Amino acid sequence: MEEELKQIVDATNANVGAVSNRADFEAFKAGITGPNGSLTKVMKSMGQVAKEDRPTFGKRINEAKQQVQAIYDSALEAIDDAEIAERLGPPIDPSLPSPDSEPGSLHPLTQVREEISRIFKQIGFTVAEGTEVETEYYCFDALNTPKDHPARDLQDTFYLPDDADFGNVSKKSDERYLLRTHTSSVQIRTMLKGEPPIRIISPGRCFRRDTVDATHSANFHQVEGLYVDKNVTVRDLKAILDYFFEQLLGKGTTTRFRPHFFPYTEPSFEVDFSSSHLAKLGSDWVEIAGCGMVEPEVFASVGYDPEVYSGFAFGMGIERIAMIIYGIDDIRYFYQNDHRFLKQFA
Ligand code: DAH
Repeated sequence: MEEELKQIVDATNANVGAVSNRADFEAFKAGITGPNGSLTKVMKSMGQVAKEDRPTFGKRINEAKQQVQAIYDSALEAIDDAEIAERLGPPIDPSLPSPDSEPGSLHPLTQVREEISRIFKQIGFTVAEGTEVETEYYCFDALNTPKDHPARDLQDTFYLPDDADFGNVSKKSDERYLLRTHTSSVQIRTMLKGEPPIRIISPGRCFRRDTVDATHSANFHQVEGLYVDKNVTVRDLKAILDYFFEQLLGKGTTTRFRPHFFPYTEPSFEVDFSSSHLAKLGSDWVEIAGCGMVEPEVFASVGYDPEVYSGFAFGMGIERIAMIIYGIDDIRYFYQNDHRFLKQFA
């Protein structure tokens, strides 16, 4: 009996090395201390042991059980350690250079913005900057959009608290700051800074209280354009936009103007384009921009003489253009920073 117990403990010791995971361990344990295990069998033979030998027998069995339990414990500890190590992955030396050799890439909106800027720069436009926090004056009043205009409805716009302070954006005392709803405010900032001729575009971020869905985002991007000189006509506007859209979307792209209303242009148009080679669109007309001839009231607010100068302005959404170019059907992809999406534009 003594010998048998010793053999069981020795065998447990010898075989534990082959146990490498939890399932192995359970099977191993069952073979020793399970209902039909080798040690259990010896325990069950207690009944056949002479009464006077039982205390010794019991003591031996207990010792064997303790030895086996100690082997179990260390095997389980090793399994725990292995599982943690597997979850952690290979050891890392944080002082080494990043193993991620994949280069980053420009966000698709950045790529489209840069392409738009490149095209306009080729035909003499420069890039002007404005602020994302604006005043009601630049965003609305100076653009001939009076206080009762629907665009100024509190519902549509992110106004900042009355005591908000932005030292770099000057405002009159009775005005409020807001997050700009369009890039058109840069028209005013640019004209107040200089004299015609003016040829600028201004890409940038805009904000509206839109409920987010596949085609709306409270935070989006536009490009504004402004051209002011003597004798500027609607023909110039149409020619520039035709040229731009053909450069951007490929040969055979055409535009059409539909009469529309914007407070800061007269006449005003919405621009549709058609580009038969963009398979997704076929021969459909797609609305892409707003534009028009700068309204004399706007010139008046920046001190330009509307008898001497004329000009055109336009504005368009960068997301919309990017969605058309790349065939993206949900605007939210742009803002999720999902590598699976972004790497497609590398
Ligand atoms: N600001 C307009 C918008 O956000 C777009 C726009 C229309 C800009 C006509 C212009 C313009 O410069 O002339 O929808």
